Amino acid sequence: MRNLLIVGLGDVARRALPYLVRHWRVLAVTRSPQAARIARAGGALPVSANLDDWKSLQRVAGLAIDDVLITAPPPENGRTDPRMRKLLSAMTKADSIPQRLCYISTTGVYGDGGGEWLDETSPLRPQSDRAQRRADAEAALRAFSRRHGVQLTILRTPGIYAADRLPLRRLLDGLPLIRPEEDSFSNHIHADDLARLCVAGLLRVNGGLRCYNACDDEPLSVTDWYSQLADCFLLPLPEMLPREEVKQRVSPGLWSFLAESRRVDNTRLRRELKAVLRYPTVRVLLEELSADAGLRAEILAKAGKIR
Ligand SMILES: NC(=O)c1ccc[n+]([C@@H]2O[C@H](COP(=O)([O-])OP(=O)(O)OC[C@H]3O[C@@H](n4cnc5c(N)ncnc54)[C@H](OP(=O)(O)O)[C@@H]3O)[C@@H](O)[C@H]2O)c1
Repeated sequence: MRNLLIVGLGDVARRALPYLVRHWRVLAVTRSPQAARIARAGGALPVSANLDDWKSLQRVAGLAIDDVLITAPPPENGRTDPRMRKLLSAMTKADSIPQRLCYISTTGVYGDGGGEWLDETSPLRPQSDRAQRRADAEAALRAFSRRHGVQLTILRTPGIYAADRLPLRRLLDGLPLIRPEEDSFSNHIHADDLARLCVAGLLRVNGGLRCYNACDDEPLSVTDWYSQLADCFLLPLPEMLPREEVKQRVSPGLWSFLAESRRVDNTRLRRELKAVLRYPTVRVLLEELSADAGLRAEILAKAGKIR
């Protein structure tokens, strides 16, 4: 069996783990005893390391790894991703360099598309520092892949959601929405679909370097998304205001997401990775939840506690 290293055993990788252990002997970088326990319970061998700590990454350099799934994000500040560079440097020092890499990036690397459709051939125009860091991580990975002849799959991902990760807090806080005629568009991806795409991104790519928009079929305006969510959970819809007014009323962090508008095309994902999404639109999950009052109440109670 080949060895796979997971770098970032977070929500998506944990969802992918049951599929991954069928194909690989899985090792996972963990930085807490709790994460190490989760790794072991899922059938993976924990490797204690922190991407911010070069010394601890020497453990990664000592491993014989065939394939790598990277889901850990860049640091929270700056315009580059030194974590990625440290990781790649550690992998270069290993006896054998991995042959296949799959990285979860974001559709933020495209920058603002002005509401237009974008595909993988669209230019990268990252605007926020957050998107610059992602573009830097992608650039470092591309250089590594070319230099060492390593297969690289980049999954450009929009907002990730699932029943237990819905942005209900924003509705409960009554933060204003942009009025429909000025609103931004974006796609979404269910965390379970993304988990399966990570497996496909390692197994179904035949060498080389390939990017995929790992998104659903239907871009929605932000207001449309929150309206559907509010309907499902029987919550009041916040007021809708002109764009400029919303910008004044929300945090700069939230505005950096609202400011950019993109409709992202997933044709390549469907054609080449043969992806069959269980959640091709957010409606599929919301319809399931609409039919389950108990689960909705549970989710809402949890969201009420998250501050
Ligand atoms: N939220 C969205 O809507 C969205 C959209 C597009 C892309 N993404 C990106 O998609 C990726 C997967 O998402 P997710 O929900 O699975 O993320 P997640 O649950 O936050 O998992 C990220 C993992 O990275 C690990 N990590 C972070 N810093 C690390 C470091 N310095 N050293 C070692 N490990 C480190 C975390 O470890 P700990 O468990 O120890 O914290 C965690 O296991 C992330 O990169 C995320 O930023 C998210």
